Order: sequence, then structure tokens, then C-alpha cells
Amino acid sequence: MRVAIHDLKKMKSAGQKIAALTAYDYPTAKLIDECGIPVILVGDSLGMVVLGLESTIPVTMEVMLHHVAAVARGAKRAIVVGDMPFGTYHLSAEDALRNAIRLVQQGGATAVKLEGGVAVAEQVAKIVSSGIPVMGHIGLTPQYVHQLGGYKVQGKTASAAERLMADAKALEGAGVFSVVLECMPSQLAAEITKALEVPTIGIGAGPHCDGQIQVVSDVLGLSDYIPKHAKQFVKLSDIIRGVVKDYADEVAKGTFGH
Ligand code: KIV
Repeated sequence: MRVAIHDLKKMKSAGQKIAALTAYDYPTAKLIDECGIPVILVGDSLGMVVLGLESTIPVTMEVMLHHVAAVARGAKRAIVVGDMPFGTYHLSAEDALRNAIRLVQQGGATAVKLEGGVAVAEQVAKIVSSGIPVMGHIGLTPQYVHQLGGYKVQGKTASAAERLMADAKALEGAGVFSVVLECMPSQLAAEITKALEVPTIGIGAGPHCDGQIQVVSDVLGLSDYIPKHAKQFVKLSDIIRGVVKDYADEVAKGTFGH
């Protein structure tokens, strides 16, 4: 049976930590799902991670739909969260709902995620009112990179921390089922986690969140650049290079194919 958003709230109440991962394709989603991870995010990070773009901003709805559908086919049990790309939820609440419906109806997502707090609370409430679960995302919000002036830790001053707390509460008030807290001081993430009934899922926000999310290629060691907040559990890039060389050697020697 598929994990329900209410199961995540129960995990928070029971003090059970939630492990979440991103996935962008069918085989990876299938493997992650088989391991019992309850939340798989098809993040717009795919723009950088699998498409080689410089930021998440050029990622379009069509690109997201393509990857969300692949992940949804691979994940039979996890909640599949489809990221709403830049520009698909800012124009109006109606536009946000129209695009969220596409991710669920055409992509097969269970839920959607969007970036921002108070500024997007109206859009969140509209989407939730249609029956689509919404995950919030505050702190370092990569779609705002040009306004933030880079990928920097957020909420370091007292007033910035207050604004993030207000964002978190606005999202909860609008009906989100969980909130991603990205790159903020651990103490602030702990306070937000305590203030909310819905689970917080941290990335670069310390150990006190209700759960953690990592970009799958970071934990697998597939990329050359590893962000500070990521943990590389294995270096698959070296293993893949070794396999490719072994294969090429066998072909070159004429020993492959016997
Ligand atoms: O796009 C993404 O992968 C994300 C996670 C890092 C939370 O938003």
C-alpha cells in the first residue's frame, strides 16, 4: 500500500525520523522504493543533476512531467512529490492549480512541492483545496538564486529567522503536509520543527528536523561537485569509470562477445 501523507505526521508524533531522497528516472526510483524510503522527490534539481544546466530556472513543466512520469512508474509505495518548476505557480493561484493538476494527472505524482512561504500561501491553499497534497520549501530556495545572490545559508540574522518562522507557519496554515527546510542554522530548523505540527524535512539544516532529504546523486557519489551539506556514502563515479574502462579494454583486446 502506498504511504499516505498522514503516515508522515504519525512518524513525526512517534519521533520516527523520515528519510527522503530525490530520483529522476525509473530504475533509480524503483531501487529507492524497494528500500522502503517513504518520500521520493522529483526535484527540479534534475536541471543541474541530470541535464547539466547551471541552475533550476530553465527547467520547464514538460521536462518535469517527463521525469515525474518515469519516477511514478518506478515507485509503487513511496509518496512521489513532483517539483513545480520556476514560473509555474507565480502568476496566480489558478495557474498554480492548473500546473499542479498536470503533475498529478499526467505525471502520476502523489503530491507537489513549491518554493516560498507567505508569498505563495494563497497558491498552496488553492492547490490543497483541490485535493492535491503540497510540500513547502523554505530557507535556501534555489529558484530565487538571483535574488538571494547565490546558494547561501539563510536565516542567519534575527529578522531573517523571524521571516522564515512566519513563512513556515503560513505554509502550515495553508495546508501543506510537510516543509523542506534547506540550508539554515540548525537551531532555527529545530525551532521551526517544534513550532509546526507537520513534519519538517531538512537538507543542510541540522539533525533536529523530523526528516532529511538528500539528492540521490550526492549520496551515491555520481557528481564531481558535492555540496557541503551532502554525505557521499559511496563513490559510484569511480566504479562506473572502472567498469567502462574494463569493458573498453575487453572490446579492444577482442575478448568481449565470446
Ligand atoms: O530540487 C530538489 O532536489 C530539492 C531538494 C534539494 C529539496 O528541492
